[in-house]
Amino acid sequence: MSVVDRDFNEETATEIVLGRNAACTSPRLKQIMEVLVPHLHAVVRELELTSAEWMAAIEFLTATGQISSDRRQEFILLSDTLGVSMLVDAINNRKTQDVTPSTVLGPFHVDGAPRMAMGENISKDGRGEPLFVSGRVLDENGEPLQGAVLDVWQTSEDGFYDTQDPRQPDMNLRGVFRTGSDGRFWFRTIVPASYPIPNDGPVGRMLKALARHPMRPAHIHFIVTAAGFDSLATHVFLADDPYLQSDAVFGVKDALIREVEISQDSDRAAAFGTQAPFKSLDIDIRLQHEEVGHIRGSRAGFAEGKTS
Ligand code: BEZ
Ligand code: FE
Repeated sequence: MSVVDRDFNEETATEIVLGRNAACTSPRLKQIMEVLVPHLHAVVRELELTSAEWMAAIEFLTATGQISSDRRQEFILLSDTLGVSMLVDAINNRKTQDVTPSTVLGPFHVDGAPRMAMGENISKDGRGEPLFVSGRVLDENGEPLQGAVLDVWQTSEDGFYDTQDPRQPDMNLRGVFRTGSDGRFWFRTIVPASYPIPNDGPVGRMLKALARHPMRPAHIHFIVTAAGFDSLATHVFLADDPYLQSDAVFGVKDALIREVEISQDSDRAAAFGTQAPFKSLDIDIRLQHEEVGHIRGSRAGFAEGKTS
């Protein structure tokens, strides 16, 4: 039985809306709407939403847009806290090999971090507990990748990125490194802190209403690129962080957690320009060769464009 638009009611609503979209010439948009509209209508039907509830949802989305600017992206935060960002990332970064997993990019990457020589300190103000980060960039077979580029960024010891904190120098705790022939990288920094995602807007209010905390466990971000390989946006998380089990944006993966070692090696300390004991963290990063037809993540692609 076909329905006409004048018969719009609880039973016919979905069919009528889909019929109205029939002339759409973009196959993908048409496909998306054919899934989205029935799911959206099913939510309204199943919950028997009141008009007041639907208006509250509209006001929430309006506030999410209104607080967004070129310095703040509340919709990304909403996507992150609902697990959508990590789900899109998982679908777009299906790996066939034993390679380093990707995770959420987050809103705090900035273009143009300084290129640094291996071993340089990304902390410009020296505040915090010194940490030495080292590792290798490898292919799927463990072969070192020369000339891989690592774009790294992290918070200060009190959990703020430089862009959030006027006390920090510009580009504090950010740097770009290029691996040598052995695929190795190492740089000096400070121990990052766990921190709350921005929670003074609608997403913060949502988390509070859901009795959820806004915290992310301490981590260092990496975007790693190398010619002929899929670019990778990932983090290394510090073991023993109390928020590893409940990251507000669902970004933690076991394979990305590393112990901070306390080294007594005074020769190594001297090579790093410090004294023993000192804290260090080691992570090897394995990239996957680009595959023809491999679906690329939109945010990973965005990140790749920024650093290449
Ligand atoms: C971050 O790790 O920088 C981040 C990720 C998602 C939301 C907010 C912050
Ligand atoms: Fe972060």
